[in-house]
Amino acid sequence: MKPTAAEQSLFVVILGAGKGGSALIELLTRCSGIRILGVADSNPDAPGLQLARYHYIPTTSDIAWLVARDEASLIIDVTGDPAIPSLIARHKSPKTEVLGGIAARLIWSLIQAEHEMYEHLAHAEKLSTLGIFTAGIAHEFNNPLHGIMGFSQHLQGETDPAIISEYSREIVTLTRRLSEMTKGLNLYARTGQMPEITDVQIPQLLDEAIKMAAFSTMLDEVTVVRNYAPVPDMQVNPSELHQIFVNLIINAVQAMNARGHLTLSTGVEGGYLTVTIQDTGPGIAPQDLARVFAPFFTTKERGSGTGLGLYIVRTIVNKYGGTIEPVSQSGNGTTFRIQFPLSSAA
Ligand SMILES: Nc1ncnc2c1ncn2[C@@H]1O[C@H](COP(=O)(O)OP(=O)(O)OP(=O)(O)O)[C@@H](O)[C@H]1O
Ligand SMILES: [Mg+2]
Repeated sequence: MKPTAAEQSLFVVILGAGKGGSALIELLTRCSGIRILGVADSNPDAPGLQLARYHYIPTTSDIAWLVARDEASLIIDVTGDPAIPSLIARHKSPKTEVLGGIAARLIWSLIQAEHEMYEHLAHAEKLSTLGIFTAGIAHEFNNPLHGIMGFSQHLQGETDPAIISEYSREIVTLTRRLSEMTKGLNLYARTGQMPEITDVQIPQLLDEAIKMAAFSTMLDEVTVVRNYAPVPDMQVNPSELHQIFVNLIINAVQAMNARGHLTLSTGVEGGYLTVTIQDTGPGIAPQDLARVFAPFFTTKERGSGTGLGLYIVRTIVNKYGGTIEPVSQSGNGTTFRIQFPLSSAA
């Protein structure tokens, strides 16, 4: 008799939620046929525990309790703690298998290698986008710099206290503007290697992403419509979310040839935080809809797109337990709709 889907599924328990455990969760949640029953770590602040919660995976500090779950087909021990193997032996059900010791270290190394490759790919994609930004950045920086130079020159030899005070204020304002721009750039250029999970306001991040996108494409003839319904803060790495929004906004503006309406919306629907990015461009052809997230899929001319943008976007969205789908009919614009489970809300 053919096994049912439930019989074919592998029910996995992960012990250890440090770097190795986190990479395992990220990888296994992407595999069909594998269900993570729970993640345990004696340190309640271990990064993998938060990651597990994004995916609604139960977490605990009680390792013995999780080990004793008799539905588990496999226990993966990446704690590196020499006391754990005997604890597993005492508590596990006889039919549960264990991956530990050197075998777990081997798996850990393979997963790390895969993870590092992805990080390099994501960073390369960022750098290639930064490459398009350079001309825009230089242009945007030049105006305030000229202003600062002009006011400073006027200040030399100026004795009227009112003028000195006014020009100094102008210089402070222009310097602040430059500093805002570098802040946006830093947020974008930061590598994803150091996960810095903080409370993030999604509408504010969307606004930052628009400013950033303005470096790479002309937004003068794009009408930006903001439909921000109140949403709870999310606990995420802001730099990763920023990368998602910048990529989607740049794609939208490029598709519209820098002319049309760009509508950004946020809201809460049925347990999900929803973000949509909608454009009035030509849309995506039906045969391409399923392919746009594939790595290196691009319809842009050689040299102007790597085709990695949406692949990276989807990987980050999935990492936080979310989904993304394009809604598009040729000739009728495109909407990318992202849904994050509210468990990732702060
Ligand atoms: N808003 C959109 N409207 C129409 N087509 C889109 C839109 N967004 C993406 N696409 C299509 O999906 C393809 C893949 O997008 P993706 O961002 O992955 O790569 P790219 O924009 O071509 O290159 P890169 O982002 O690496 O510079 C695009 O080439 C385009 O055909
Ligand atoms: Mg793109």
